[in-house]
Amino acid sequence: MEKRDRYWMGLALELASRGRGRVEPNPMVGCVIVENDELIASGHHSYYGGPHAEVNAISRCDPNRLRQSTVYVTLEPCSHFGKTPPCVDLLVRHQPKRVVIAMSDPFPAVSGRGLALLRENSIDVDVGVLETQARHLNAPYLKLLSEKRPWVIAKWAMTLDGALATRDGDSKWISNEMSRRFVHRIRSRVDTVLVGIGTALADDPLLTARLEPNEAPLRIAARLVLDRQCRLSPDSKLVQSVGSGPVLIAVGPFAPLDNVNKLKDAGCEILVVPEEAENQSLGFVLKELGNRRFTNVLLEGGSTLLGSAFDGGLIDEVHCFIAPKIVGGHNAMRPVDGVGKALMEQAAQLSNVQIECLENDVHFHGFVDRRMG
Ligand SMILES: NC(=O)c1ccc[n+]([C@@H]2O[C@H](COP(=O)([O-])OP(=O)(O)OC[C@H]3O[C@@H](n4cnc5c(N)ncnc54)[C@H](OP(=O)(O)O)[C@@H]3O)[C@@H](O)[C@H]2O)c1
Ligand SMILES: [Zn+2]
Repeated sequence: MEKRDRYWMGLALELASRGRGRVEPNPMVGCVIVENDELIASGHHSYYGGPHAEVNAISRCDPNRLRQSTVYVTLEPCSHFGKTPPCVDLLVRHQPKRVVIAMSDPFPAVSGRGLALLRENSIDVDVGVLETQARHLNAPYLKLLSEKRPWVIAKWAMTLDGALATRDGDSKWISNEMSRRFVHRIRSRVDTVLVGIGTALADDPLLTARLEPNEAPLRIAARLVLDRQCRLSPDSKLVQSVGSGPVLIAVGPFAPLDNVNKLKDAGCEILVVPEEAENQSLGFVLKELGNRRFTNVLLEGGSTLLGSAFDGGLIDEVHCFIAPKIVGGHNAMRPVDGVGKALMEQAAQLSNVQIECLENDVHFHGFVDRRMG
């Protein structure tokens, strides 16, 4: 039985993941309904504010068969009125034999209550099937709930000899088209794309998600520049493209007002980092993004920004694209600057590592181990 439970929960998790980029700041949730080891209905939470996974699955299910069934859900069913009525009530009304849940929901209005209500209504409940995988899938949601800060994804492209740019600062292009397309797809599902002013000045990037003609972005990310002295030009591509998506500039308290006003007039939002938070600008900005319930943030460099982020233990996930190019040079920039670590045992350690080839580039993906990073 346990093995079959894991199989069906695996399917529910697969379905849940289809909501990535569409459901945040809600969790990704999947549901499958099984009778006599046969799949009779399934559903997932597919967009923010939309019907929950259980509602979608139950609406596709014959009510007579539902009574004999086991319902697999990747997250504890909700027991409160949110944007939709409680899923627990729906389950109690249909009385499946058993409900199997991957993990309880730490969301304060739900936590544990959903489980208790099901049990009180004579439904068998099992919790914890594929819990680790469920936690991994919803790690950004869980982090936002517990720490009130978004999940931080670092991305960089480097040459085989570890350069982020040549000795003269040239970085167009390191990675190939396939790698760059991959980055655009990440941009299309996050809430914010963040860079340091060094990158904004050197590369004049747009930071929008440019996808294939048949692909639509899942959401429009705000583009954010850390720019203490407000050096970003109103003529930059970022500012000029404000109509394609919000542009936020995080400035220090003493940034020159004339440029601040020009950027405001051009439609940018200015975030003032107070003097006392100036040494922790990135932390301050992440907190602000968390207050807005932004779930995922993509840090695209440069070296100074990634250095301070790793120094502060602020990175959760890494996408690194390694190109088969060698530029050499003592002064070529490395991807992660900052103070760094003195000892190898202090290094940020990645786990769940996946490596794939994108033509001749290597795409390295991993998650920062919280105990080390
Ligand atoms: N290959 C790649 O994937 C890639 C990606 C990005 C960039 N690059 C290259 O990297 C180079 C730029 O890197 P960089 O290190 O010079 O610039 P950067 O990290 O983009 O920007 C550095 C500046 O941003 C602000 N900043 C960064 N982190 C901050 C923090 N935690 N708190 C407050 N302010 C912060 C500071 O400016 P203020 O003190 O003035 O506020 C800092 O001087 C360019 O050559 C670019 O082409 C390559
Ligand atoms: Zn629900």
